[in-house]
Amino acid sequence: MATSVSRYSTRSTSNLAKNLVSLWTQRLRDAAIPEPRTSTQLIMDYVIRLNQCVSKIEENGNPELTVQQIQLFNKLCSKRLDRMPVQYIIREWDFRYITLKMQPPVFIPRPETEELVDLINLHEFHHKRENESITFLDICCGSGAIGLSLLCENPQATCIAIDKDPNAISLTELNSQRLNLGSRMIVEHLDVMKTEFHHGFGHDEAVDFIVSNPPYIPSKQLASLQEEIISFESSLALDGGCDGLDIVKQILHFARLCLKDKGKIWLEVDINHPEMIEHYLNTHDTDFTYDATFKDYTNRARFCKLEYHKKDKT
Ligand SMILES: C[S@@+](CC[C@H](N)C(=O)[O-])C[C@H]1O[C@@H](n2cnc3c(N)ncnc32)[C@H](O)[C@@H]1O
Repeated sequence: MATSVSRYSTRSTSNLAKNLVSLWTQRLRDAAIPEPRTSTQLIMDYVIRLNQCVSKIEENGNPELTVQQIQLFNKLCSKRLDRMPVQYIIREWDFRYITLKMQPPVFIPRPETEELVDLINLHEFHHKRENESITFLDICCGSGAIGLSLLCENPQATCIAIDKDPNAISLTELNSQRLNLGSRMIVEHLDVMKTEFHHGFGHDEAVDFIVSNPPYIPSKQLASLQEEIISFESSLALDGGCDGLDIVKQILHFARLCLKDKGKIWLEVDINHPEMIEHYLNTHDTDFTYDATFKDYTNRARFCKLEYHKKDKT
């Protein structure tokens, strides 16, 4: 008699990871939730990882889930059904070479910001000697994504990270400690719109460059953003005022107080902003020249490089 697999297998199919993923993918798709498959798969990876059996579905084929795992998976997928971003559901996100903890409502780092880090690596670090120390300011640090990536990739760098939102400050501190980068980062709770910056935050030396991905969405466009963004991410991280440039203009003021002569400001902005910023600098006495615009991976003008020309105050 042939040794065939029994038709009446005792393995239930309703608790197999792939089946649960397919079931929830369809539910999310029916409810028009963006990226249904990626969302459910990331949630499943997270649930399995919590139990530390396997790290990825693929690595174990199609594991059977325990009742507790199924309950957790269902609960987390329901959150996605309510439009919570998957990064907040699984509480972490990869950014370049680091994994950051995520906590609502702190801004979730976007993929194009990884390109801003590439640009800075190329222009601020590659031509420097390895032992040449470089201090930079990450204004509007959020989860700490930009500053911590630059620190991780450039061992000679130190960073001062500032943000107005206390949630962002705690998260950046947490991330810097988890990544063992705390000794090279100072995290300051500061509102760039209000603070008269005099002596630095315990830092009297001028910084080599400034980077910022500030809130830049013009106020009247906020209502048209995706549900995931409006309902879950802090409006503090998004609202750039009437033309979206409120914080950018304030960063210029701030930079005059703490940036080295010929130091650069690197900004991530809206596609309409590079031209507006260039025009603003050309028509105002700001001590800055517009150096260059860079495009993101979708070929949209998203990054600006400005140069500071310190006036002799004597
Ligand atoms: C678009 S998020 C960027 C976060 C992070 N840099 C990133 O790329 O993921 C903007 C951040 O600016 C902060 N912010 C808004 N207004 C600010 C202000 N007046 N002073 C300092 N930080 C501010 C928000 O709290 C938010 O964390």
